[in-house]
Amino acid sequence: MVESVWNHAEQHTEVEMNKSVNPSESSPRLERSDYKAVWTNLSETVAGAKMHVIGTDREEDLVVSGAQTYEWLRKTVGIRPEDVVLEIGCGVGRVGKELAPHCRRWIGCDVSPHMLRFAAERLRGLSNVELKEINGYNLQTILSDSIDVVYCTIVFMHLESWDRYSYVLEAMRVLRRGGRFYVDNANLCSEGGWKVFEVHRTFPPRQRPPHITECSTPQEIETYLRRAGLHDVRLRADDDFVRAWGRKP
Ligand SMILES: C[S@@+](CC[C@H](N)C(=O)[O-])C[C@H]1O[C@@H](n2cnc3c(N)ncnc32)[C@H](O)[C@@H]1O
Repeated sequence: MVESVWNHAEQHTEVEMNKSVNPSESSPRLERSDYKAVWTNLSETVAGAKMHVIGTDREEDLVVSGAQTYEWLRKTVGIRPEDVVLEIGCGVGRVGKELAPHCRRWIGCDVSPHMLRFAAERLRGLSNVELKEINGYNLQTILSDSIDVVYCTIVFMHLESWDRYSYVLEAMRVLRRGGRFYVDNANLCSEGGWKVFEVHRTFPPRQRPPHITECSTPQEIETYLRRAGLHDVRLRADDDFVRAWGRKP
C-alpha cells in the first residue's frame, strides 16, 4: 500500500495548489463526477500520471508500493494462478505489474485513456494483460459472472459516494459465484485521514479541486458491501486506511 494516506493526499494537495486541473479561468469548471475529463487532464504526461497515482513519479516507488498492495490482496481475497482478476481504476498498472504474473488474466480498467496508454507501456512484457477504457460509472463492457477477483484500490477517495456504491454493485454483477471483492479508502476516523480532511477543508468551496481525497468511514464501506449482497464481509481499519473485502455467494 502507499506509504501513508497523508503522503498520497499531501502530494495531490501540493500539486493542486500550484496547478489547477481546470485549465483556464474561461474553461467550464469540471465537477468531481466528470471523472473522464478530470483524470484525462491529470494524466497527460507519464510523470503527471504517476504523481497522481501515488504522489511520486519515481518508478522504484511504484514498484515497491505495487508489491505492498499485491501483498494486501494476497492476504485478504487471495490470488490464485487460475484467477481472472479485474482492477477498477488501474492507473499506470502499479498493482497489475506485480499481480499479473500470479494469475491467469489481469484486466485493468480505467476512465483515462492516458493512464491506460502508460499502463500498456509499463506492462508490455506481460502477455496475460488486457486494458479497457470505461466510462467512469460502471463496467458495462465486462460480462456478468466472468471474473474471480475484482479490486479497487486508492480510487474510492476520488469518487462521489453514489459512484462508489455503483462500482460495488458492478463488482457483484461481474463476479462469478464465490468470486472475491476488495476495496480500500482513506479512513476518516484515523489520524491521517482526519488530517487530510482538515487540510482539504481549507480550500474555498468553489475552488476545491475535483479529484481531492474524500475519506470514508469504515461503516460507509461496510454498508456498501453488505447492501450489495456480499457475504463474509471483513474489515481492517487499524491504520490510515479502511480495507474491506467479501465474497459473492
Ligand atoms: C490514485 S489513482 C490509483 C491507480 C491504481 N488503482 C493504483 O493503485 O495504482 C486513481 C485512478 O482512478 C482512475 N479513476 C478516477 N475516476 C475513475 C472512475 N470513475 N472510474 C474508473 N477509474 C477512475 C484514475 O484515472 C486513476 O487512474
